[in-house]
Amino acid sequence: MTANGPTSTAPGVVDVVALGESMVTFLPTRPGRLADVPSFDRAIGGAESNVACVLAAAGHTARWVGRVGADGFGDHLVEAIGAYGVDVSAVSRDTARPTGVYFRTAQDRATDAHEVAYYRAGSAASAMSAGNMDLDAVHAGRVLHLSGITAALSAGCLELMRLLTARRPGRPLVSFDVNHRPGLWRDRDGLGVLLELARGADIVFVGEDEAWGLGGPEAVRAALPEPDVLVVKQGGTGATAFHGPHAAFVPALTVDVVAAVGAGDAFAAGFLSATLRGLPLRDRLRHGHLMAAAALTAPSDLAAPPARDRADRLAALDDDAWGRLRLGPGWTQADEGADEEVRTP
Ligand SMILES: Nc1ncnc2c1ncn2[C@@H]1O[C@H](COP(=O)(O)OP(=O)(O)O)[C@@H](O)[C@H]1O
Ligand SMILES: [Mg+2]
Repeated sequence: MTANGPTSTAPGVVDVVALGESMVTFLPTRPGRLADVPSFDRAIGGAESNVACVLAAAGHTARWVGRVGADGFGDHLVEAIGAYGVDVSAVSRDTARPTGVYFRTAQDRATDAHEVAYYRAGSAASAMSAGNMDLDAVHAGRVLHLSGITAALSAGCLELMRLLTARRPGRPLVSFDVNHRPGLWRDRDGLGVLLELARGADIVFVGEDEAWGLGGPEAVRAALPEPDVLVVKQGGTGATAFHGPHAAFVPALTVDVVAAVGAGDAFAAGFLSATLRGLPLRDRLRHGHLMAAAALTAPSDLAAPPARDRADRLAALDDDAWGRLRLGPGWTQADEGADEEVRTP
């Protein structure tokens, strides 16, 4: 660690460490164009910290490592993420750069369109580098969860991602969600960089629509044989996971979608939770779908996951009953048995 890096005294080993940029998010108080929305409600956003928050809410130990400004928005992120039970002691503060923020509009019901205005260029998180992160805390987890967003933030962030995905003995299980964001890469070869980083991970999550234009899951696996586990998400259709010579496909659940944001992060959290518990491939996918369904049926990006015994019971259904499940708003809080009614033909 460098002299100006954060100090740490033997960080505790947690189930999952998630590293990445989190931002204060401003959600519109009414629908309409960004130009017309008069006020916004504050929330928190950040793909990797979302994963940490869902995992903590699901009963795992989780740490978020990031960099925020020495400002009120930075205080809010640390406090709000910490309030989920996530360890935030290794988050560093940047006295020269601000916390990133963004504003969004409501999704237009007819077209799904919405606007997002990011104020993240030059953010504290974009200054993350191997020299100013608490690498002991980053490595003190059973799983290290990363995403392709970080690689797009700056040259220093890309270098950090290359370091963390470099294969070496004794490292944590490295989980990588591709999360290709074309707007962050502009004219750079984002897809090429993301493929190279994915090759260094142990567990890779990728949406079929961002999977290098390769086509279906088998083609993606053929192009990316290195990760022990590869999960290709196929939106509302389902997801396919490869683990060594094994493959499994699990259809997604039928859900009443309230807000699509955060589903990918919740899916990763569910899959990682089941991985940590040593569950078989099919059940890892089912827990991913269940956590995603919790996010999809709630208005906020960060929905409370179902209780573990409830999730286990649903994950154990036979294929027909799984196919008949219908999950709507509030299902994670509803009485036990509420979903049993809907699965009676
Ligand atoms: N229409 C849908 N119906 C049911 N589940 C869905 C639907 N869309 C997404 N999901 C669930 O959310 C997961 C993540 O979806 P994805 O589109 O990959 O999210 P993101 O774009 O946020 O990464 C899927 O694997 C699936 O479990
Ligand atoms: Mg995603």
